[in-house]
Formats: sequence, C-alpha cells, structure tokens
Amino acid sequence: MAFDIEMIKKVYATMAERVDKARQIVGRPLTLSEKILYSHLWEGNPTQAFTRGKDYVDFAPDRVACQDATAQMALLQFMHAGKKTVAVPTTVHCDHLIQAKVGATTDLAVANSQSKEVFDFLSSVSNKYGIGFWKPGSGIIHQIVLENYAFPGGMMIGTDSHTVNAGGLGMLAIGVGGADAVDVMSGMSWELKFPKLIGVKLTGKLNGWTAPKDVILKVADILTVKGGTGAIVEYFGEGAINMSCTGKGTICNMGAEIGATTSTFGYDDSMRRYLAATDRQDIVDAADKVAKYLTGDDEVYANPEQYFDQVIEINLSELEPHINGPFTPDRGTPVSKMKAEAAANGWPLKIEWGLIGSCTNSSYEDMARAASIVEQAVAHGITPKAEFGINPGSEQIRYTIERDGIIATFEKMGTKVFTNACGPCIGQWDRAGADKQEKNTIVHSFNRNFSKRADGNPNTHAFVTSPEMVAALAIAGDLSFNPITDTLLNDKGEEVKLNPPYGDELPKRGFDVVDAGFQAPAADGSNVQILVSETSDRLQLLAPFDAWDGKNITGAKLLIKAFGKCTTDHISMAGPWLRFRGHLDNISNNMLIGAVNAYNQEANKVKNQLTGEYGPVPSVARAYKAAGVPSIVVGDQNYGEGSSREHAAMEPRFLGVKAVLVKSFARIHETNLKKQGMLALTFANEADYDKIQENDTINFLDLTEFAPGKPLSLEFVHADGSRDVILANHTYNASQIGWYVAGSALNLIAAGKA
Ligand code: F3S
Repeated sequence: MAFDIEMIKKVYATMAERVDKARQIVGRPLTLSEKILYSHLWEGNPTQAFTRGKDYVDFAPDRVACQDATAQMALLQFMHAGKKTVAVPTTVHCDHLIQAKVGATTDLAVANSQSKEVFDFLSSVSNKYGIGFWKPGSGIIHQIVLENYAFPGGMMIGTDSHTVNAGGLGMLAIGVGGADAVDVMSGMSWELKFPKLIGVKLTGKLNGWTAPKDVILKVADILTVKGGTGAIVEYFGEGAINMSCTGKGTICNMGAEIGATTSTFGYDDSMRRYLAATDRQDIVDAADKVAKYLTGDDEVYANPEQYFDQVIEINLSELEPHINGPFTPDRGTPVSKMKAEAAANGWPLKIEWGLIGSCTNSSYEDMARAASIVEQAVAHGITPKAEFGINPGSEQIRYTIERDGIIATFEKMGTKVFTNACGPCIGQWDRAGADKQEKNTIVHSFNRNFSKRADGNPNTHAFVTSPEMVAALAIAGDLSFNPITDTLLNDKGEEVKLNPPYGDELPKRGFDVVDAGFQAPAADGSNVQILVSETSDRLQLLAPFDAWDGKNITGAKLLIKAFGKCTTDHISMAGPWLRFRGHLDNISNNMLIGAVNAYNQEANKVKNQLTGEYGPVPSVARAYKAAGVPSIVVGDQNYGEGSSREHAAMEPRFLGVKAVLVKSFARIHETNLKKQGMLALTFANEADYDKIQENDTINFLDLTEFAPGKPLSLEFVHADGSRDVILANHTYNASQIGWYVAGSALNLIAAGKA
C-alpha cells in the first residue's frame, strides 16, 4: 500500500535541472503544466521546445492505475511482455463490477460470487507482477489514488477517464486506453500530443452554500463538453489556495466532462495538510524542498493571458451553487434560476433519489457538509421526501465517517450505504422500478449524467450538484427548492430555513481504517500461478500473434468496405459486450457489427466470397480465417475515432484481418493497429476508395520492401478479371515496422528488442 517515496524523491531530484533547462529553451516563464511535462520527457533533459497542440512527444509517467473492467485485457497483454515485474509502480482497483442494490454487505457478497473469476485473475496476475491489488470493497480507483499515491509534480496514467482526479494533489494524471498502460507497464514510453493550456484564475473565497463542485459546474457551463479537448486546465489564484485539496480533486475529476486532457493545481498548504493527514509527511518534506518547481512561475499567474491559450476568471465570492443537467453535465443552472428553467423545460420537479459519494465527491469534507444538512433537518423535525444513497469512495473514508458518527447521521434519514465502489455512477444500480422507464428526477454529486448512465432508464432526468445541495434537494424532494431563500415545513407545520452547510476539511481525529482492502504483491512472483479457467467465457489467456512471414500478402479477400462514420464503437461495441473484455475470442463476435457495408448500406451483413452468401462480419471473418484466407478492411474518413479501446485493433488481428486501408485514421486507433501487428494504410489518392469492389481479391506487390516513407502498392483484382493497382501510404517508422515484423509491439518487447 505504501507509496514509493524513493521514486518520488528521484522525480524531485531531476525536476529542478529539467525545468530550468526547459525555461531556458522555451525562453519564457513556465506554467505548472509545462514544468511537469518537460520534467517527464522520455529522453530525459529537454533539448527542444514543443509546440502546443501540434507536436507528439514521448513521456515517462511515474505510475499506472487500472480499474477492474479495463485491467483485464491490459494485464492479459502485459503477460506477453516477458517481464518479471511492471516497469513503474502500478495498482489495480476492483470498483466497476459491483452492483448497488440492497446495501454494501449483500451487494458486495453478490459481486464477489458473480465476478469471482475476474477478481481472482486480477488478484493473481497482480501478485505475480509486482502490482498493488485493491480488492472489491476497498474503494474507487481515483479516491484510493488520491489517498495513497498521488503526489505534487508527478505524472501518471490510468485506464479510466477520471484518472484526472489526482490533479487535486498537483499531478498531471491522464486517462488512457489499455494499450498505453501496457506500454508503460512494459517499460516503454508513452506518447501524447503536447497539450494546449487553459488557465482558470480563481479569485475570492467559497462561502455559504457554494462548494468546489460549483467551480467545475460553472467551468463546464462556460467551456461545454468539448471546450477542454486537447488541453490541460491549470487552476491558480487566491481562490485556489483557499480551497481544500479534496475540493481541488473534485474540480479536476470533472475536467473529464469538458474533454480536457487533464487538470491541475499548484502545490500549496491544502496539499500539505492532506498529505500529512493521509500519512505522507515524507512527501511534504520532499516536495517542500522543490516547492517553486511544483507551481507555475509568478510571472505566468500575474499575466496569464500571455502564457495560456485561453484564460477564464471566476470570482468564488460571487459564485452561486449550480445544478447541471439533465442529460449533460455542461447545462448549468444557478440554483436561483432552477425554478424557472425546470418549468420552461418540463423537467419533473419531484426528486426521487439523492445520491452522493463516487470518485468525484467522497471526501471527509463532502460527507461532513452533507451530513450537517441532514442533521439540521432531523433536529427540526423535517421528514426527507426523497430516498438517499451513498457510495463512499474508499473503505478509509467509510470507516472514518462511521467512527465520527456521520453515517449514523445519514441513517437518520433512512440512507442506504452502498459498497465502496462505482455503483450507480457507472450504471451498476439495480434501481427498483427503473424498467418501467418512467419520467423522473434524481440529483447526484457524481460527474456524468448522460441518458441511462445511472439506472438504465432513458427518462431519468439526472442533475449533478454538490453533495450538500444533493442533501438539501433530497430532503425538500423538490428540484426548484433554493435553500438560500426558501423554507421547509417541519412536522409541526413550522417553516424552517436551513443554515449553510459546515464540516471539517479533514477529520480532527485523523483518518482510520481496520482493513483497507489492499493486497501487496509477492516479493518474488515467479512461482505465482495466474488463475484463468479454461472454460471461462469472460477470460481467456492470449496467444502471441504470429510474426510476419516476410512475404507479400496474396489472395486476400475484402471483408468489408465500411461506409461513412466508423468509430471504435462501430468496430467493437460496448454495452453487453463489456462482459467479454477479458476474452478476445468471445468479444471478437462484435467485430465491426456496427459498421455500414458500402455495397448494401446495411450493418453487419457482408458477402462471404467463398460461398457467395451474406453473413455477419465476425462469421465471415472467421470463415476466411478457417480457410486460411487473409482478409482486409476498407474504410472511410477518420476511421477508428472515439475511444482508445484496444479491442478495436485486437479483434481484427485475431480474426485474420491483415490490413486496414482507409481514407484517413483517427490517430490513436492507427497506433493501436500498428501495436497489434496490423497494416494501417491510407489511400494515397482518396478517390481510389471508389475503385474497391465487393468481390475483390487483393495482392500486395511490394510489402517485402516495407520501409519508412515508402508507399505500398496493392493490386485489387475484380470479379471480371480487371485489376487496379492502388498506392497506399503509411506512417510506420523503423521501430514500428519492427512491431509488424515481430507480429506485435509486445512480441518485440518479449524478444528483448524494443
Ligand atoms: Fe467509478 Fe463513476 Fe468514478 S464509474 S471511477 S465512480 S466516474
């Protein structure tokens, strides 16, 4: 469980030199984000200035964290890297596969039985390869990372979009796909387009009913769900310093909702207090020695317009509590305007449920402030109108708030305490009656509120707000209730006005826990057996992909010419298929089932050239594979946009597709294809897309001369015997050609040549 202080000291030891060098090269003062980026270059000391939003740069992150859903395929792949242990400190967290229904004890027992094989696999593979394993019930990945591993000035990646939460402790923490995590765990660099920078200057001080959550709800309202794309959001100013560290975590967490690469804050006293309270005084001592490198230069914050690509200013003293939604987190409504907005839009006013906790708002301060509202309501004889639930972020938080009587306070209003896990936040909520799909309203302090996200009901109007506002609204049972101006009726018919929330930032008696749920890895894992049943339909050990035989690919059949948009969701659908994330054979049955066939404009119906019959894409691919016939996929513009899901590249590779030839690629998917030993090619002349016919057989003419910068020639033999030779470009450099030759990037690592 212990954080790695030696690793952190090493980061700090090189930081000063690298940041000073970067400042010299860039020729101006630096933001905090730039200091962390330039001090984590894969090449070590900076030698050049990078252009924001343009240059692709290799980095060396300090840590990796994976959650249980995404860790499965990442670790199955990592097993092929041929390493004894992971190259950087890594943890696995079991938080996504636990459903909320009855309450923590029962729900956890059900999950432990239903997903036993997945948890056993993750536990054994973690044990073997030096990975810290957090058991089901230990808590939510981002809360545990903040409590145990995040540190100012560090860089980490995690296989979950809310990894960005660790920015609350001054890190650059970035959500990635499994393939990126595998690279870093295997000792390779990690590539990122040098981000743009958005500065958010916070003036004034939070007061009354306003909470850190309102800062990000306001920022989301300003920037919208796309406004942060490709950028790091850096917060600064007196308002930032005045805020708790965990509040900063909440703000960074929801940076994912504006599409930001990540968000961060400079090192300050709130971080010192939080680190000390979570038993990490060592980090404070080390960080204090390099404190000026753990925040932006003074000149940057004095004249932010000169150094950031965009600057936003928010005065916290004037900020109103916000309620964002429904269906999107960037639709912001100040509490004073909600009555009119709800009426104008026909949103149901009656609140059915209030939910707090999750990775977004699980701090001691959050719980204490929400409980202070419940306490007042109970003391005044007010009967809460809505149901109330909590998903504590970690066992440490749960244990501490139980010890301090906060859970007992919540229980006075009949609160359900669910497992320390994602639960309703990820749709793992068996909500009674949700299947009736009735129009209804819930309020929560989570981060996302897209349609169906919480309970699967498309008619649930979910609103995001601070935990204290969730408590007030759930007690009132009315979305239009404004606790700043309105009163509630108590059991004597008296009007009661709630006082603003209050609560300690950190527990006076310190944090406490009996069993945090951590399993340390074996000191020597060489004899640890990895537990995967041969009959499992959820997990399957991977076999390495075959190396290239050094010959031209000949006699390949066209599997599908995809028409129009083809995202990673079209290539490897989510939903029910997520169950098979750890089983490549089974999940491959969703390969390209969402892609539209250019010849009949239908999804999942392509011609099997061996039989002349039409069938689902995966079946036809399997038929070609069984017959020893290679196949290729042709696609349109921006093929593979969407997520960084590695399954979208692994499935075609597994089902015998040799090449993907498209008008253009989404870059991450193109890289993923390369990593899996596939040919990712683009038409030199886009119009050639139209020359491809349904019954084509394809021969590569010069693959044997595969080299950087040299286009490949492909011959398309049509049914009538005519042929077209098409020139295909590629972006493989010499080492990526090495991946192709070896059969995959991992094969090359395993051979010790990468
Ligand atoms: Fe889990 Fe929701 Fe956070 S799904 S990791 S609690 S965003």
